[in-house]
Amino acid sequence: MKKIDLSKHAAQKLLKQRPPWLYRNELPDTLYTEPGEVAALVHQGEYLATAFVNPHSTIAARVLGWRDEPVDRDFFARRIERAIAKREGIESNALRLVHSEADGLPGLVADRYGDNLVLSFTTAGMDRFKEEIVEIFVDLLSPKGIWEKGDKIRLKEGLEATHRTLYGDVDETFIIEEGTKRFQTDLKASQKTGFFLDQRRNRRIVGRYGRKRTLDLFANAGGFGIYAEAESTKFVEISELACTQIETNCRLNGLKNYEIVKADVFRFLEKETERYDLIVVDPPAFAKSKKARSGALKGWKYLIVRSLALLEEGGHMALFSCSHAVGLEDLLDLARSSAVIDGCRLEVVETMKQDVDHPWMLDVPNSLYLTGALLRKSVW
Ligand SMILES: C[S@@+](CC[C@H](N)C(=O)[O-])C[C@H]1O[C@@H](n2cnc3c(N)ncnc32)[C@H](O)[C@@H]1O
Repeated sequence: MKKIDLSKHAAQKLLKQRPPWLYRNELPDTLYTEPGEVAALVHQGEYLATAFVNPHSTIAARVLGWRDEPVDRDFFARRIERAIAKREGIESNALRLVHSEADGLPGLVADRYGDNLVLSFTTAGMDRFKEEIVEIFVDLLSPKGIWEKGDKIRLKEGLEATHRTLYGDVDETFIIEEGTKRFQTDLKASQKTGFFLDQRRNRRIVGRYGRKRTLDLFANAGGFGIYAEAESTKFVEISELACTQIETNCRLNGLKNYEIVKADVFRFLEKETERYDLIVVDPPAFAKSKKARSGALKGWKYLIVRSLALLEEGGHMALFSCSHAVGLEDLLDLARSSAVIDGCRLEVVETMKQDVDHPWMLDVPNSLYLTGALLRKSVW
């Protein structure tokens, strides 16, 4: 295994903080590795950690472990087995089995949809082990088919975007079963790897507060609105495919009184005048980085102020941010100042995060990426 001699500063950071990665400027200027090569990070000859190293990426070293051991098929098989075992008991036929660094597998995401697997390889290092990883999943789970969802994020590591079958036959459509609810998804074309699996638990929590009229903003496949089982439901979503899925899912779940508005939520809120008992605001990640934060917060403020104006007294509003750059405290601050504008009071009924198959590890800073608050409106 290649050795990379770190500066004293980088070595101390590794020893004291055990970070999941090091940036390019923390590695030696002269770094002769193939993109994604497995290397030992050392200081003055002493072993510190094993990592995928990619000189072309801003995150140039991704830690695989803190023990000097071979990184081979067995290594990945052990980690994948452990990740799968940890998920036992999740009540759905669709779940995340591997969540990258949070499962000690930087750059590997694996989602299970019944007999189908959807895999993403987002680091050059993990991409080099694709064949072995596919074999491991075939051995462990005997899937019918494995689909690779390789989005543009791969470009950051010098990889190409790619979407293709890696093994067997992948179902075009799949019915997710979550408790009594059913959602049809298109495994090859839907957003994420097919469905917003990370919102599973939150759909159940928020659904309890649906009563007469629910407004599901940024609805995607309609999960929140369908769980709420309100007397009437309005879904607002910009994607054509997602709107078709909402229609299918409403029918699958016997929802009767609903309207699907294909629109930009910001434009929709300019004109909407109806009032609601439950409003769900679950936008895409406006701020993927801290730099984009201030623009994102302005967008958020508009969404909350407008939604509050449409919310009945005693009604509930669920706010979600799926970006680590805008966290729970930000959502609560925005809600607090928006309540002043609306002249109402807000009670925090629930705080939420991504479901447990998307682990939040304290040593992986951005692994808490989805946060939410369920707020109840009252008046003075
Ligand atoms: C985080 S997802 C919502 C997930 C959904 N609530 C669920 O639990 O399945 C955000 C959704 O907002 C949609 N979207 C993005 N920008 C939008 C906009 N300006 N107006 C309406 N929908 C938008 C995306 O197509 C995507 O389906």
